[in-house]
Parts: sequence; structure tokens; C-alpha cells
Amino acid sequence: MERYCGPDLSPLARHDPEIAEVLCDELERQRHGLQLIASENLASPAVLAALGSPLTNKYAEGYPGRRYHGGCEVVDRAEQIAIARAKRLFGAEHANVQPYSGTTANLAAYAALLRPGDTVLAMSPRHGGHFTHGSRANFSGRWFDVVPYGVRRDTERIDYDEVRDLALRHEPKMIICGAAAYPRLVDHAVLRGIADEVGAWLLADAAHTIGLVAGGVVPSPVPYADVVTFTTHKTLRGPRGGGILCTGELAPRIDRAVFPFVQGGPMMHVIAAKAVAFGEAARPEFAAYARRVVENARTLVAALEAEGLRPVSGGTDTHLVLADLRPVGVDGATAERRCAAAGVTLDRCPIPFDPEPPSVASGIRLGTPYVTSQGMGPDAMKEIASIVLQAVGNPNAVTSLLARVRALTDAHPAYRNEG
Ligand SMILES: Cc1ncc(COP(=O)(O)O)c(C=O)c1O
Repeated sequence: MERYCGPDLSPLARHDPEIAEVLCDELERQRHGLQLIASENLASPAVLAALGSPLTNKYAEGYPGRRYHGGCEVVDRAEQIAIARAKRLFGAEHANVQPYSGTTANLAAYAALLRPGDTVLAMSPRHGGHFTHGSRANFSGRWFDVVPYGVRRDTERIDYDEVRDLALRHEPKMIICGAAAYPRLVDHAVLRGIADEVGAWLLADAAHTIGLVAGGVVPSPVPYADVVTFTTHKTLRGPRGGGILCTGELAPRIDRAVFPFVQGGPMMHVIAAKAVAFGEAARPEFAAYARRVVENARTLVAALEAEGLRPVSGGTDTHLVLADLRPVGVDGATAERRCAAAGVTLDRCPIPFDPEPPSVASGIRLGTPYVTSQGMGPDAMKEIASIVLQAVGNPNAVTSLLARVRALTDAHPAYRNEG
């Protein structure tokens, strides 16, 4: 294997070559392909080291100083450091760092603030909202009465007039903002005003944008939302996991909802890795990284438009690009498959008012967090746009495209340098 600056894999290679081979193959896949899934990133070797540590052995149900197990005095320190760093990073009164994922963070937020059957106003998954914001296949749509809001047909931006009308008509207990496929900023002040008008809680799901908030390149929801949920593995570049920020007043309700209502023993190795990621995100280098993530997304979207795709909402303010493929006459599922053959990993994605079912979709969603962590800049973004368009339109060009992808990834290797 080429030089690898990450945790030592040799004990695994000796002990379990079959699984070691899977790890090495995945490392090679990440190294020699373009990773453009907007939810993914390149966690640092320090984050990986914390994840692969003996903290995984420790049971620690409860919270620091209030555990249901003995021997927690050392792991308590990891959680206390993670909480203190998260509070400082985001200016929040309280942080819960135990959620296993963004989904369990959202489940805990619902559990803390609502009762089954309550009405919730949330962005439709067909317009970019996440499936925990009301999909019938998820607890949110099954246990709550979810009224969806969407974007305007002309601007493809959130229709705040519609949100207010729906709020006045349905009097929801909670309004949710934040999305999985919305490239624009959310106006938290307007949503706070609407929530106050109808006496609703405001939940900001910042799963996607929290790293950009940490880096100071998008506005923080913390001053406006009662509760902010987030993931640690997307733009924040930490381990796979979730977190919750809230006011001091809501802290006991949120903590009880996470444990014991939704979860059991916390993953202390992941909490230590979250602490590492919060520490990294507080550094000036991370602010510079977050700035480059957004600059790269803007360059990428402009280059895709120049190549013939239509950027949904006309562009992006974040790490995320949503492109309408209809001008080039290819559907999202076909584009995803053709890009994969050329070594480019991205997602098909419904666009607002999509005539296709979600399994086919008319759009693709791309993100810049991973490739920016590899050190790619504007020239690479233009090359990526050209590769994507060629891959989508010309399935016979695979060999030459694989070579172009390889040239980019060789110039910007993952885990070749200390992160
Ligand atoms: C807006 C939003 N919320 C929640 C989640 C869920 O996160 P996880 O996959 O960690 O459960 C995601 C994941 O993509 C998301 O985009």
C-alpha cells in the first residue's frame, strides 16, 4: 500500500487479513476516486486514532459524574472536554455529545419537546428536507402530524410566506428548519418570528452546515433556535455521530431524551473523537478550510452551469450543489451510475417539483467538503465539472475520465500527509 498517515493497520492485517483487506480496499477507493457526496468528509488521523482506541471498551450509561457504571472517571474527562469544546465553539449554553447519529439527535429533540400526534411544520423531503422531517417511512411521519413546507417555484428558495400561512393555519408545536439538499442559507430570524407568533418551538437541524457554522462562513442558528441538532461527520469533519445544542433551560429535557429515552450507553471512543474534531474546528486553519469549501462549491456550480447544467436556485451559499440534469436529457439515476463508472461518487437527488420519482430523480447533489480536505482548489473544481459532464453525457469516455480522475487524486492524495 502507498504511504498511509493513519492509525497502524498492521495488527489487524496479521490478526484478520480478510477484514484488513476490506479496510485497505476502501482506503484505495477513497484515494483514487472523487468523493463528491455532500455528507462526506475526510476525518483526520487524530480523529481516526481516537475512534480506534480502548475507550470503545467502556460502558458509561448516564452523564459525567452521574453514571450507572463504575470506572468512568477517565472517560468522564473525554465527555467533559467534548461538551466544553462544543459549547465554546458554537456559543451554546448546553451541549449533548452522546447522540449516535443525526437521526437519533432528531428523535431526541422530538422526544424532548413533543408528544406523539403533535403537529410539526417541516421542510418537505421532496424539496430538500431530511427523512427525519416527516417521511412516512420514519418515526417522524409515523408518530407526528407533519405539515410540509417547500420552496417557491420561481426562486427555488424557501417560501417564508407559505411557512407563515401554514403555521397560522395548523398551529404546530414545532417548526423544523435545515435540510439535506438545500444549497441556500436559512433565514433563522424570520422562522424565529413565525415560531413566536404561533407559540412553536424552533428546531434547527444543522446536520449539513454545522462545520460551516464552526468556521464562521454561514450564520449560526444557535441564537434563534430552541434546539440545534447536528452531525459530526459531514462539514465538521469529525467521527460519524450526532450532537445537540440548546438553552440551559431545556438542558435537562434534552439530556433525559437522549439517555435513557432514545439511547443506551454512549460510545465513549466516538465522544473522544468528537472532542478532537471540536478542537480542530476551533483552529484558524479550519475557518480557512470552511471558507475554501464554500468558494469551491461556488466555483463548481458556476462551472457546471457553463457546461450546460441548471443550478437549482441559481447557485449555492454552502458546501452543497444541486444541479438539474434535464437540460442535458439524462436522469439522476443514470447520471449517478455513469459518474460511478468514471470514478466519481455523487448522489442522484430530487429537485423541487421533480416530475420523476425519488429513485430516478432529475438532479444530482454534489458537495465539496471531502475534496477540499484533500487540498483541491478552483482549478480542480473546473476539472471536476468537466469530468462530471463528460461522464454524464458520454458513457464511452470512461477510460480517459478514469485517467483524469486519477491525475486529480494523485495530486491531492487522502491520508498521504499528516492531517
Ligand atoms: C439534515 C439532516 N438531518 C439528519 C441527518 C441524519 O444523520 P445520520 O445519517 O447521522 O443519522 C442527515 C443525514 O444526511 C441530514 O442531512
